[in-house]
Amino acid sequence: MKNFRIYKLLVFLIILVISSCGSDDEVIYVSPSGTQLVQASFTYSISATDPNVILLNNTTQGSGEFKSEWNFGMGDELVLDQPGLEELRLNGAGSYTIKLYVTNAAGFTEASETVRVDEDGVCPSNICGGIDPSSLKGAAVGFSVGTIVRDNRLTGMHDEVIRRDFNNITSEYQMKMDVMYPSQGTYDFGPADAIVDYGVANGIDVHGHALIWHNSTPDWVENFAGTDAEFEDMIRDYIRTVLERYKGKVRSWDVVNEAIADGSNELRFDDSVFRRRMGADYIEKCFQMARDVDPDVLLFYNDYNMASDSGKRAAMFAIADRLKALNLIDGIGAQLHISYNGPARSEIQAVVDGTVSRNLLMHFAELDIRTNPEENSSVTALSSERALLQKDKYKELAEIYTDIPTANKFAFTVWGLKDNESWLLDFWGVPDFPLLFDSNFDPKPAYQGVIEGFQ
Ligand code: G3I
Repeated sequence: MKNFRIYKLLVFLIILVISSCGSDDEVIYVSPSGTQLVQASFTYSISATDPNVILLNNTTQGSGEFKSEWNFGMGDELVLDQPGLEELRLNGAGSYTIKLYVTNAAGFTEASETVRVDEDGVCPSNICGGIDPSSLKGAAVGFSVGTIVRDNRLTGMHDEVIRRDFNNITSEYQMKMDVMYPSQGTYDFGPADAIVDYGVANGIDVHGHALIWHNSTPDWVENFAGTDAEFEDMIRDYIRTVLERYKGKVRSWDVVNEAIADGSNELRFDDSVFRRRMGADYIEKCFQMARDVDPDVLLFYNDYNMASDSGKRAAMFAIADRLKALNLIDGIGAQLHISYNGPARSEIQAVVDGTVSRNLLMHFAELDIRTNPEENSSVTALSSERALLQKDKYKELAEIYTDIPTANKFAFTVWGLKDNESWLLDFWGVPDFPLLFDSNFDPKPAYQGVIEGFQ
């Protein structure tokens, strides 16, 4: 009998998550007895008299007794909801994740909203900085438009273009382990701090990339002399140190990048010290380490060839399913380094469909579109014919992204600002023009293609 009682308690703790697609991130926990709990829900508006004050309205509806408590995203205690509107002042620029917990006899539900603040106060509809509607971010509805940055590309024309067109930034390489943690016990957060501070100062979301990646592992980690248990402790300490440093400033992280081996679609082994030292469940361990430090930061798995390789796509969704079962993943990053002539729209759509069906956030994370996939080394300029084909492909990506349900939208990020800064030039060693701006920061037809696709 005692075992049965324990079993009932365990079953009760096994919860079914039925997510709604409302404007908030709403989570409904339904106990097996079928007692529907009260679904937390709230809205907010910006004070007419003070741009840094929001008025929170608890719109939770439910029968019977229930308690509502606020977490204002500033690391303080829960605050009991009072009748009427709650006034909340948000002074510092940045993103605040506000949560409402509602508890009744059978358990609790939660709803959350992220509110962006810049130097002018709370950003209307989370769009900061007096948006130019003809800009990339001005044309995007319900998601941000991102680009990559480096600490030495945050001034002058880079700064002007970033602030006009983008509201999400990803560090191209300076928030990776080989830069932030060059030797054991010695961190170098200089470049990362510059990037994060720039994002916070300008009300631009910062996407952290990438905590764990086999291609950006410092030598001392590759050759770690301790035991496997000591290796795992070191990784836990690294993830804790980084996430605590940027808590409330970096809104999201690629926790693990490119774990799947091309061809086999198994987890990389020979080229992944993490897989070798932490075991087959290293991805779950790393996500758990991140979640243990920051319950509010959005956690992503990121990889490439998701559209062009259906086997790799299936392997990626299997990882996502394992992480979702543990309630550890918020989104998927599809890098989408593609060409003007492929992959097909249907293959890109398959990545979106698999992500949306799992109710995860979709990040088009590293967009660039090769105009010279034939690797013709005699190409000296972007022909108008290829420029228009590239425009059509960017427009296709933007249309696919715009059609994603609001609850699954996150960011549409290009992997570079202007053509001559693209990693592809060194990688392939031939001329190419893969981005939205030419080498003079002038928008190309591809830029217009994205705008048209967003509309
Ligand atoms: O800026 C320094 C320079 O001062 C120094 O002299 C030189 C030699 O050490 O290094 C330069 O930094 C290099 C940086 O690119 C800028 O060129 C780094 O060593 C080099 O590792 C870095 O490569 C980056 C690569 O990831 C590895 O981190 C690329 O910029 C970046 O575009 C690339 O991005 C990856 C994504 O993270 C994951 N998906 C694939 C994508 C393309 O490989």
